[in-house]
Amino acid sequence: EVEPLLAGKTITITAGPTREALDPVRYISNHSSGKMGYALAEAALALGAKVNLISGPVTIKAPANALLTNIESAEQLLTASMELAAQSDAFIGCAAVADYRAAAIHEQKMKKQGDELTLTLVKNPDVIANVAALSENRPYTVGFAAETQDVASYAQGKLKNKNLDMICANDVSKEGLGFNSDHNALTLFWHNEQLDLAMGSKKDLAMSVMTELAKRL
Ligand code: PMT
Repeated sequence: EVEPLLAGKTITITAGPTREALDPVRYISNHSSGKMGYALAEAALALGAKVNLISGPVTIKAPANALLTNIESAEQLLTASMELAAQSDAFIGCAAVADYRAAAIHEQKMKKQGDELTLTLVKNPDVIANVAALSENRPYTVGFAAETQDVASYAQGKLKNKNLDMICANDVSKEGLGFNSDHNALTLFWHNEQLDLAMGSKKDLAMSVMTELAKRL
């Protein structure tokens, strides 16, 4: 039996990749499987929370008791996030959001061209920074940081620049951890504190993250 540390709380979690269309058949995306975000949703439900899960396209099954919103692009993620975040006690951005999208989506399938093709990309909105900037009904805002080098300093930079309350950093250069694996290792950062969570299953790590979050709500 787990203690219902999150009873009465609403937690909104984003998970999985975004897909940025280039034309009707092609897109830019990344290797996020949704496993980390879905494990967070399971853990929050197990602790008694009401869970909104906003998910990019993944192949795994969502927890039955989560309220699922499916999105594809970063812009769709932003719309869903702003609506649900303002009704939540906490918002966790675990989705791997594309930083850029195509400047224009071709209406027809792009034709093969010469030996080189140049795509023009434009910056996507920063979803979690927009949530953290809410002036009314701002939830406790938790980011993730996927880094391949200087993990601590980049993660702490994102904590500050995006005005988050907490960030969970993972070193995604390590074989068998991070994207698409069943395992991970995390360092949690707050503005004046940090906590290392050693390598383990995403399920166990998710429960540790949720327990730390519950102490702060
Ligand atoms: O899905 P899995 O296969 O289980 O893999 C898990 C994971 C590695 C994807 C996950 O643990 C993780 O690190 N997720 C965040 C990935 C990411 O996009 O990190 P980032 O460092 O680029 O972004 C930092 C934070 O800003 C994140 O909370 C991200 O959701 C958010 N962000 C980023 C860009 C953007 N335009 N909007 C955002 O909200």
